[in-house]
Amino acid sequence: MEQRALLTNLRGIVTPDPARAWAVDYIENGAIALENGRVAWLGPSKELPSEWQNANKLDGKGRWASPGFVDPHTHLLFGGDRSQEFNRRLQGVTYAQIAAEGGGIRETVRATRKASLEELVALGEERLGKLARKGVVHLEAKTGYGLSLESELRLLEAYGELQRRGWSLDVTLMPAHDIPQEFQGDPAGYAKVVAEQWQPELVKRQPGVARFCDVFVEKGVFTPEQGRQVLASGKALGLIPRIHADEFGPTGGAELAAELGAASADHLMFASDAGIKAMAEADVTPTLLPGTTLFLGMRDWAPARKMIAAGCRVALASDFNPGSCACLDPLLILRLGCLQLRMTFEEALTAVTLHPARSLRRKDLGHLQVGALGKVLLWEVKHPLELVYWLGETYVPETIG
Ligand code: NIG
Ligand code: FE
Repeated sequence: MEQRALLTNLRGIVTPDPARAWAVDYIENGAIALENGRVAWLGPSKELPSEWQNANKLDGKGRWASPGFVDPHTHLLFGGDRSQEFNRRLQGVTYAQIAAEGGGIRETVRATRKASLEELVALGEERLGKLARKGVVHLEAKTGYGLSLESELRLLEAYGELQRRGWSLDVTLMPAHDIPQEFQGDPAGYAKVVAEQWQPELVKRQPGVARFCDVFVEKGVFTPEQGRQVLASGKALGLIPRIHADEFGPTGGAELAAELGAASADHLMFASDAGIKAMAEADVTPTLLPGTTLFLGMRDWAPARKMIAAGCRVALASDFNPGSCACLDPLLILRLGCLQLRMTFEEALTAVTLHPARSLRRKDLGHLQVGALGKVLLWEVKHPLELVYWLGETYVPETIG
């Protein structure tokens, strides 16, 4: 049977438009007609087509409607936490020093390897629940804290189980997130094993779970050449590349993303001008993670303005992980986009909805135009700008759909 409903009594609707890169529509006193879970019509209530006049009503209670948030970069599943390390960093020890002592990512790898499949699924449900309550309706999530074939497979199985339980989740294979203890001093050897053996094996053992692949290209981790090898192998398996690039220094990661036709290049605090131009030309989505810059106490905010000026469709993401951004708060990311990356409210809103959905190849998410999935957030505000303006204020949306 056809499901028809009319979301009415809205103070307004705010939504990007996939047909226009950075345009945001504000529709006051709006209504949204939903048919089989998709937007069939939206506009001012007084223009509602007669065929919808008698549809079942959902009362918007005078709130503003926006599309649900899409988070295109998380490391959702990991064991343990790194709060002790966080406190050491506050005492002046650097992220790099902690990593050199065998802590950092390696510590999380030890904890993740100990976690059972059931524990990982339970952690995933808890974190996804928190994100959902804050308005995240779809996200990307990476493996990469296992760093052994067995443990990466368990992470992938846990993601598959979360998908089966109905969470809206795109999975990214990332065994090349760091160099595991077993390959210490041999990043080239590890990149080769990941490219030639593990990725094919992971895809074969859990077919259809992962859609993307990723690698951490950075000084002291993987070179662009090794990154190319890992991502090319992923591509040959039907995965779409994403890349951790230019986070602590310029390493040519943005250029590599463009060369490989990656869906996104992420971090980019130190992306070069040539890299920015190349991303714009190749339609790579620069995915900026201002929560990480904040959490690491860095001052090198990614050059969002330069990227927008170059024609890039910038996205914002949480980078949720235990070491460099223990944050499950999409509003904080939106606020940092405005306050530190100097994006306008409309740009930042587009960067947490439409552009991440586009980089995840999800045409029907991240906006509320006709055809979109009817995943609507309802906010109790007089105007959506308040979500950023009242800094630190807690807003909890109701999610429809
Ligand atoms: O995306 N850059 C690499 N990886 C993570 C940090 C991981 C960690 O510290 O556990 C990131 O920021
Ligand atoms: Fe990351």
